[in-house]
Amino acid sequence: MSLEKIIDKKKKDLSTKIDKQKVPEHVAIIMDGNGRWATKKGLPRSYGHNKGVNVLKEIIKASKKLGCKVLTVYAFSTENWTRPKKEVDFLINLFAEVLKNEIEEIHQEYIKMKFIGDLTPFPEKLKKIIFSSESLTKNNKTFLLNVCVNYGGRQEIVKVAKELALKSSSGEINPSEVNEELFNSELLTQGIKDPELLIRTSGEKRISNFLLWQLAYSEIYISDVLWPDFNEFEFHKAIIDYQSRNRRFGGIESLPNESSFEDSKCSS
Ligand code: FPP
Repeated sequence: MSLEKIIDKKKKDLSTKIDKQKVPEHVAIIMDGNGRWATKKGLPRSYGHNKGVNVLKEIIKASKKLGCKVLTVYAFSTENWTRPKKEVDFLINLFAEVLKNEIEEIHQEYIKMKFIGDLTPFPEKLKKIIFSSESLTKNNKTFLLNVCVNYGGRQEIVKVAKELALKSSSGEINPSEVNEELFNSELLTQGIKDPELLIRTSGEKRISNFLLWQLAYSEIYISDVLWPDFNEFEFHKAIIDYQSRNRRFGGIESLPNESSFEDSKCSS
């Protein structure tokens, strides 16, 4: 058997292990390692970002094929502005180019695109293409692609706190009414189910200010693979790992007999 056929077979074997009934509806991804991938190859960091776009396209297709409904990716954090201007400008241009070239296909695939974050500091050219992409795809129902740009989890929480404080001081709400549901309704992700799974590539074990509120109960999968080397096979590994988890949401595993709980009757 040729090496290609062996690899193909390995891929197929893995995908048959996925339980189609237990696929996460919402997957969030921190696409990390573009720069290191390029540097390791002696290439400028921009090569890593370009390759990263192709990987993102592959993962959108793979997650849609599996039956996921929402994919949220971290494309540019509020902290990314501290990178050299040349890299920031490159990324901004890349976002605009990718959108210009891919939006028709995204639309034909019935994918709705939403940008999450504060768009204010971006150039008009990018903002225009973001708004037109969102508007073109707004009625698509098959799949939602959220792209987080100039996004920070803490900033989002502060924004919600401010909105609720304003509503309280104007009398629109009573402070005693503030609860998780009301808080959720002011988030940038309002109306979107929280991710069941967070994938971070490149081996880093941090959340890096990503979806701090929404990831409260998400399963976290760290892949050692750098984002430009990530692919459908690696994505399937993450899904299989997720399916092996026992999600208890702070509770306990369902017990065969409830009476197996015994009160230890502390004497103190
Ligand atoms: C992290 O790698 C990656 C980014 C900051 C940019 C990711 C952006 C894309 C893949 C393009 C997506 C495009 C659209 C339109 C959604 P890094 O640079 O932090 O890598 P490093 O940690 O190795 O330095």
